[in-house]
Amino acid sequence: MTVLPRRSLAAGAGLLVGAMALGARAQQQIASVAVSPKITAKPLTFNPDKVKGLSADLLRGHHGHYADQVKRLNAIHEELTKLDFANAEPAKLAELKREELATHNATVLHELYFDGIGEAPIPPSGLLAQAMARDYGSMDRWKAEFAASGRSLASGTGWVIMAYSARDKRISTFVASDDSMTPASALPLLAMDMSEHAYGADYGKETAKYVDAFMAAIKWTNAERLYREAMRV
Ligand SMILES: [Fe+2]
Repeated sequence: MTVLPRRSLAAGAGLLVGAMALGARAQQQIASVAVSPKITAKPLTFNPDKVKGLSADLLRGHHGHYADQVKRLNAIHEELTKLDFANAEPAKLAELKREELATHNATVLHELYFDGIGEAPIPPSGLLAQAMARDYGSMDRWKAEFAASGRSLASGTGWVIMAYSARDKRISTFVASDDSMTPASALPLLAMDMSEHAYGADYGKETAKYVDAFMAAIKWTNAERLYREAMRV
């Protein structure tokens, strides 16, 4: 039998204890990664009774729809946290991941939508106004493209998204036909919800009137803040 010197035994024991501690730390790290923070629905930043062209009932009901999506996103995160990915049924995981992306996007886009509405709209200013003049030629040109993009979505679903592309170094207007479609590598600054639930109660099928009402109610302060942040990235 090999007799190890006392110092080697002590060193070996130290390594074992160290390895056990490392294992415990690694497990703690895995556990901490696995916990998804709860997302809280953002409250409206305006008084819905004072927005021209969009009724308070419509806006409150729509905000409730957004809050339900936040709850669903939290439930999806919780389900994913508990999932054994190594043994998960592929079709179930694919569906959950599809819904995670769509719900994640829907919550972000609804926050942009509501943060872009104001009681007393004023035109964009500062760096964003300069960038829009550079990238669209004029505010009239931006407005014409944004509004026409909204009217082009006659299916009762989808988004018009104004976003800054870090790759292209410019602002563009994109049309997403559902919640899963957003411009890759671009930071959205403003979103117009073209889902039927965003206008049906006030305008029925008259989407052009809804588009005009939204355009007239745009509050630019949030888009200006997001653009300034995008410039720092
Ligand atoms: Fe919506």
